[in-house]
Amino acid sequence: MNPELVLAFDDEWPQAEALAAQLAVPAACVQRHRFPDGELRLRLPPRLPPRVVVLRSLHPPNDRLVELMIALPAARELGAREIALACPYLAYMRQDTAFQPGEAVSQRHIAAWLAAGADALVTVDPHLHRIDRLDPIMPGCRTAVVSAAEALGDWLVRQVERPLLLGPDQESAQWVRLAARRHALDHAVCTKLRSGDDDVQVQLPAGLDLRGRRVVLMDDVASTGGTLREACRASLAAGAASVDVAVTHALFVGDALQRLRRAGVRQVWSTDALPHATSVVAIAPLLAAALRTV
Ligand code: R5P
Repeated sequence: MNPELVLAFDDEWPQAEALAAQLAVPAACVQRHRFPDGELRLRLPPRLPPRVVVLRSLHPPNDRLVELMIALPAARELGAREIALACPYLAYMRQDTAFQPGEAVSQRHIAAWLAAGADALVTVDPHLHRIDRLDPIMPGCRTAVVSAAEALGDWLVRQVERPLLLGPDQESAQWVRLAARRHALDHAVCTKLRSGDDDVQVQLPAGLDLRGRRVVLMDDVASTGGTLREACRASLAAGAASVDVAVTHALFVGDALQRLRRAGVRQVWSTDALPHATSVVAIAPLLAAALRTV
C-alpha cells in the first residue's frame, strides 16, 4: 500500500507523527468526546484521501475496539477507499483455543471483525502460538507481521555485555531465537505453568548453568508481569549475576513494574508499540516497512 495519510488519536500522537514521517505523508487526528453516559463521539477530517492508514494500538483493548468500530466505517464514508490498520499491539491474540468447553476463541472473532473493517493490517509481534500467520483468521484482509525482537536485541547488546537471552515460556522461543541469532548470543527457553491470571510457575531448562550470567528475559508481552517475575526469581536463585527484561508490548498492568523490580529485575526495556516509561525501541520504521508490503 502507498498511503496518503495517517489517521490517529491524540494519545498516540508522537507515534503517529513518527509513522507519518517514515511514510512521508501527513498525519491527522481523530477527535474524541466521551458523553456522560460513556458513549463516544468521534470527529474525523471531513474529507479523506483514498488510501489511509489508521493507527491504533489495542491497549486498553475494549475501548479501542469500539473506537475502531466507529472510525473505520466513518473513514470510508469520508472518502477512504483503502484502509490499512496499523495496530502495533493486537490484543486478544492469547485466547487462541477453547481451554474449557464453551469458551469463545476470542482470537478468531476479534481478528475476523477487524478483517471486515480494514483492507490490510500490519502489526508487531502478535501472540501467535497455535497458528503462525494471521491470514487464516483474517479472511479478505492483507496482513503483515513484523517483529521487534531483532531491534530489541540491537538495543540490549549495547546495554549488557555477553547477555544470555532467556525466554520465560515455549511461545517466547520465536522472539528469543530472532534476537539471539542476529548477535550470536547464548539463549534458552523455560517451561511455564499458568494456573490463574496472577499465578504462574516457571521452570528453568534442565542443565542450564546461569551462575554469573547476565540474563535478559525476552517476551512478547508483559501484563501482570507474573511470568517475568517468576523467571527472574528462578534465574537469580540459579546464580544469575543480573536479570534485565526486554519485551515488545509493555502492558504492565497495576503495579506490575514495581513488583518486577522487587523480584530483582534490574532494567526493563520495551518498544513504543505501547508507549510506556520503559520504551526504548521505536517501531515506526518497522510499521512503515510492513505497510509498503500489504
Ligand atoms: C503468554 O504466553 C505471553 O507470551 C506472556 O508470557 C504473558 O501473556 C505474560 O503475562 P503476565 O505478564 O500476566 O504473566
